[in-house]
Amino acid sequence: MRDTAAPIEIAPLLLGWYDRNARVLPWRVPPRADARADPYRVWLSEVMLQQTTVAAVKGYFERFLARWPSVDALAAAEDGDVMAEWAGLGYYARARNLLRCAREVAARGGFPSSRAELLRLPGIGPYTASAIAAIAFDAPETVVDGNVERVMARLLDEHTPLPASKPLLTAHAARLTPQQRPGDYAQAVMDLGATICTPRNPACGICPLRAPCAGRAAGTAARLPQKTRKAPKPVRSGIVYIGRRADGAWLLERRPDRGLLGGMLGWPGTEWREDAPPEAPPVPADWCALPGELRHTFTHFHLRLALRVAQLPQSADGHFIAADAFNPSDLPTVMRKAHALAAHHFT
Ligand code: ADE
Repeated sequence: MRDTAAPIEIAPLLLGWYDRNARVLPWRVPPRADARADPYRVWLSEVMLQQTTVAAVKGYFERFLARWPSVDALAAAEDGDVMAEWAGLGYYARARNLLRCAREVAARGGFPSSRAELLRLPGIGPYTASAIAAIAFDAPETVVDGNVERVMARLLDEHTPLPASKPLLTAHAARLTPQQRPGDYAQAVMDLGATICTPRNPACGICPLRAPCAGRAAGTAARLPQKTRKAPKPVRSGIVYIGRRADGAWLLERRPDRGLLGGMLGWPGTEWREDAPPEAPPVPADWCALPGELRHTFTHFHLRLALRVAQLPQSADGHFIAADAFNPSDLPTVMRKAHALAAHHFT
């Protein structure tokens, strides 16, 4: 590994590259802009971008901005409307915290500018606090995401696997963070990681950091960072019940705020367990099993879902959503997949 006590000056190389190659993103101001980025946009984009790609986020970001152009507007939104707009992005606890955070920020009259104060807001952890402080307020904070870890591991030729190497890579990232233009610098490292220092087939030949990069010199860059193998995910099973009345209304439920898919709409069903759970129809009806099963993967397990469908009597009890008020894109992805598999049964 390179001697970390004597950091090479990478900021000028990286900022020069960013001035010419910064990606144009809807929450961003161009490099060297006089204006700072709007903290509301920076916060919203960073929360959306956790565990998700820029390509997946852009459309969601633009729809949120069109509907709720300021943190005050978002703070005044109905919870269900926000959860429906978030549907498909996953990690629904982020959307619930987003609303809690918007309401606190609106009540205090705007976003605080320091990392320490940002950290006290709901749903804002070390990564997001540093990103908002650096990008929206140009504070010299170090932003460390997966891209930054990869760039640092390669620059240093660091072979200790993640996650054990995290503190070391974070410390190195902090040493390299400049006092001048820290916001542009943070975004430059992320753009480098997303476009040049990519996980597979990094484009070392055109990299602005090819001279100081120890991983490139050693020929190991493409294999870094090493990662400790994760335990395989367990498989859980469950059953969902997709029922529809003669007037076209669908039987749905709002899931409890806590837990997986918390606060989202979904089809009623059993628990999801490693031993197959027993049938638990939400209302008595002639439930018909669809052949096959739906597969979906969450962070901590694979899910196999069996589907049951039924026409329900007009007198059935439950939370029905009228046909013209039902929009499958308001559902989290697994529930939308279930609808897609079952819908033809009702036509
Ligand atoms: N990924 C997460 N946050 C980002 C940002 N601000 N710029 C580029 N890529 C990102």
